Amino acid sequence: MTRFRSVFAGVGSYLPKKVLSNDDLANMVDTNDEWIRQRTGIKRRHIAASGETTSMMAVHAAKRALKDANVEAGELDLIVLATATPDLTFPATATMVQREIGMYRGFAFDVNAVCSGFLYALAIADSFVVRGQARTAMVVGAETFSRILDWEDRTTCVLFGDGAGAVVLRGEPGAPGMGDRGIIHTHLRSDGRHEELLYVDGGPSKTKTVGHLQMSGNKVFRHAVTNISGAIARVLDDTGLNVSDIDWFVPHQANERILEGIAKKMGLARDQVISTVADHGNTSAASIPLALDVAIKDGRIKKNDLVLFEALGGGFTWGAALARM
Ligand code: UT7
Repeated sequence: MTRFRSVFAGVGSYLPKKVLSNDDLANMVDTNDEWIRQRTGIKRRHIAASGETTSMMAVHAAKRALKDANVEAGELDLIVLATATPDLTFPATATMVQREIGMYRGFAFDVNAVCSGFLYALAIADSFVVRGQARTAMVVGAETFSRILDWEDRTTCVLFGDGAGAVVLRGEPGAPGMGDRGIIHTHLRSDGRHEELLYVDGGPSKTKTVGHLQMSGNKVFRHAVTNISGAIARVLDDTGLNVSDIDWFVPHQANERILEGIAKKMGLARDQVISTVADHGNTSAASIPLALDVAIKDGRIKKNDLVLFEALGGGFTWGAALARM
C-alpha cells in the first residue's frame, strides 16, 4: 500500500470586524486593562457580529486557505472542522462549510475537543491522508465563544474572542520522515476527571440550553503547564528530535504567561514563540491556525521550517504535534 505524508499546502484565517478592547470590557464588568494585560497578555479580541456564525467565519477562512493552496473546493476529499460552538446541534458545521464552498464530494465532519480541537482535527485528517483515503484535506478551527460567555462574569468574559482558521493538507508520496515536508508526528491525550474545572453548564441532552462557560482559571493554568510540557516531551522523544531542531513554536493562545512558561521550560527563545494572544484573545480551536496564518503571512515561518504545536482544552484534552512546513 502506498504511504503518503500530509504536506501543508495553504493556510487562511478570518477575524470578525468588531474589536472589543480591554477598556470596552472595563465599562461592562469590574475589570481594568492593567489586570487583563498583566495576567493574560490580552489587549483586544474580535467578536462576531449579531447573526455571524461559526460556519460563516469558517467559510471565509476555508476560501482563503484554498486560494493560498491554489486548490479548488472540488478537489477536496475531506473537511475536519474543530469547534465547541457549532451553528446548530446538528448538522455538523463542517457539512455547512462543505456546501458553502462548493465541495460536492468526499466527506466532512466536526470534532469537539474544545481548545485542543485543531490538533485533534489535524491528527485525524493526517491519518486519512497518510493511508491515501483522502488525497487533499482541509482542517478548520472555528469558534464563536462570545455566544457561550457570561458577559457579567469578569473571570471568563475577558479571556475569549471569536475567529476561524483553516489549513489545506495535500498527500505527497512517501512515509512521514524527519527531513521531508509534512506532519511528522502527533500526540493526543484526554482525561475526563477534571470536567468541573472547565465546562459549559448547558447542552441539548442535559439542559436543552446552550449554557455558559465556567472555568477555575488558576487550576486549569497549572494543569495546562504540566500536561502540555508532557505532550511536547513525548513528541520529541518519539521522533528523536531535540528542542534545538525546532524553528517555531505555535501554541494554543490561552495566556501569554502559559506560552512564555512553557517556552522557557523547554529552552526556546522568546522570538521563536508565535503569540497572537494580545490581539485575538483565546479563540479556542481557531487559535493555532490563526497564529500560523499570521506568522506565515508576515514571513517568519517559511517552507521547510520545523514547527511545534500544542494545546490544552476542556475535558481535559491536550496534545502536541510536529510538522515541517
Ligand atoms: O484555553 C483553555 C485553557 N485555558 C487556560 O489555559 C486558561 C488558564 N488560566 C489562566 O489563564 C489564568 O488562570 C486566568 C487569566 C484565567 C486568571 O489569572 P490568575 O492569575 O490565575 O488569577 P486568579 O483566577 O487566581 O484571580 C486572581 C484575582 C482574584 O481576586 P482575589 O480573589 O485574589 O481577590 C479574582 O477575583 O483576580 C481577580 N480577577 C479579576 N480582577 C480584575 C479575576 N478576573 C478578573 C478580572 N479583572 N477580569
